[in-house]
Amino acid sequence: HAADAHRTDLMTITRYVLNEQSKHPESRGDFTILLNHIVLGCKFVCSAVNKAGLAKLIGLAGETNVQGEEQKKLDVLSNEVFIKALVSSGRTCILVSEEDEEATFVEPSRRGKYCVVFDPLDGSSNIDCGVSIGTIFGIYMIKDGVEPKLEDVLQPGKNMLAAGYCMYGSSCMFVLSTGSGVNGFTLDPSLGEFILTHPDIKIPKKGKIYSVNEGNAKNWDGPTAKYVEKCKFPIDGSPAKSLRYVGSMVADVHRTLLYGGIFLYPADKKSPNGKLRVLYEVFPMSFLMEQAGGQAFTGKQRALDLVPKKIHERSPIFLGSHDDVEEIKALYAAEE
Ligand code: AHG
Ligand code: MN
Ligand code: MN
Ligand code: MN
Repeated sequence: HAADAHRTDLMTITRYVLNEQSKHPESRGDFTILLNHIVLGCKFVCSAVNKAGLAKLIGLAGETNVQGEEQKKLDVLSNEVFIKALVSSGRTCILVSEEDEEATFVEPSRRGKYCVVFDPLDGSSNIDCGVSIGTIFGIYMIKDGVEPKLEDVLQPGKNMLAAGYCMYGSSCMFVLSTGSGVNGFTLDPSLGEFILTHPDIKIPKKGKIYSVNEGNAKNWDGPTAKYVEKCKFPIDGSPAKSLRYVGSMVADVHRTLLYGGIFLYPADKKSPNGKLRVLYEVFPMSFLMEQAGGQAFTGKQRALDLVPKKIHERSPIFLGSHDDVEEIKALYAAEE
């Protein structure tokens, strides 16, 4: 009874990672321990996000809470949760978070060999209206095992060992790649476990959806403007694409990964490097897209080849179905 076996043979994220680890006999489970702590952080944020609305309703949000503490925004709260979880894993040495101006260097007694870059709460402008938000992370190995330094997190995205996101939406989904494909896990709240529900995700080669903030159209450069025009008024008689834009990168990328299509946050006159941050938004999502058979392009180069100089550096990004990104690359190449 394959169906029964499927039902009782629960492939949890921990079992999946342990299976992966068994392919690397040299690893001593450090990565598994690190991932477990990231997963713990996501479970906490998931429950906090789900309660945030209620807290707002019963007035605990906004001002001070019952202990007189200043009410923490979910950005700050989730940031604290991830920093603490990652430090307590004993497997990290440098942490970069969207919410911290400086990188965190873990004190020697708690130090491990991994560097984690993360966006603790992505799409936070969508919290109060209940639209999906998420957490994004990427994992590097420290370059040489001596004193950790900032250069260890200023590596191109192609050096990442793993990347993923957790989306807090109608269900809580954890999407992960450790360099051999992309797998999706759904939180079973009754078990408190992420169960493998989307094995080996592959993005459709071409899609029917484009995802961009059309409100920035007046500031786009030529190739971006031309591409979006083609989506709306195809010249080869093919049907126009649909526009879907949530405004949370995690939600827009998750839909693109599953349905196909393209997500764009282009450069514009106001922000020549676009808005999205290289280390903890562009790189992890680009890593996942390539692992799922898609592409990720900055307008100038393959996104994962970018070498960031600063930890909060931004870059334009075009990512999604292979053929759709190919069209943008051709338009930028023609511009050169
Ligand atoms: P964050 O909430 O972590 O700061 O990220 C918000 C980002 C990203 O989630 C989304 O794709 C983008 O902001 C939307 O920006 P616009 O509102 O300018 O379209
Ligand atoms: Mn973000
Ligand atoms: Mn954020
Ligand atoms: Mn933010």
